[in-house]
Amino acid sequence: MPDRLDSPPEKPDALATQVAQAQPSRRDALHLIVLAGGVAFGCALVVPAAYVVTAPLTGGGPKGSGTWVKTVPLDALSEGVPKKVAIVADQKDAWTTAKNVDLGAAWLIRKGDAVVAFSVVCPHLGCSIELAEGAGFLCPCHASSFDESGKKLDGPSPRNMDLLATKIEDGFVVVDLVRFKIGTPDRIEVG
Ligand code: FES
Repeated sequence: MPDRLDSPPEKPDALATQVAQAQPSRRDALHLIVLAGGVAFGCALVVPAAYVVTAPLTGGGPKGSGTWVKTVPLDALSEGVPKKVAIVADQKDAWTTAKNVDLGAAWLIRKGDAVVAFSVVCPHLGCSIELAEGAGFLCPCHASSFDESGKKLDGPSPRNMDLLATKIEDGFVVVDLVRFKIGTPDRIEVG
């Protein structure tokens, strides 16, 4: 006599249902793996891209107060006589350092053992300020004029010439390279 079955064998339909129910969980796991991979790949792209965008802001190049640039020996300046000097320094970005980059110029005026420095950049539209005939300074673009102390005398410049901080180190004049926004009555640093 054949053994009696306690329960009938599962029908093919029931088996198919169980398989169908099991499959979504495997699909979910697969989706999670694909999703995680996508997120990791996205981060791998986005993080360097964000660095590229912000690198110029976080690099080591001259920007704002505190970028001190060595210029000429103090002895190269005559008392009270303005001298235009080049501002040359190494410039760094996120990846490279460029040597001896010409960053602009400044007017230096010796006052004893100290030096007054002005930016050559005209506060009107940014032309280069030159010496005026006789005394003081003149911007040739739109005829803004300034006295020997940098005070505006005439023309469309919205403010006086921009003063730059200086110090003497090892007999050399060191200038704090700062750039200011043009076209505004207030001195606003832009780097
Ligand atoms: S740029 Fe100097 S007066 Fe206009």
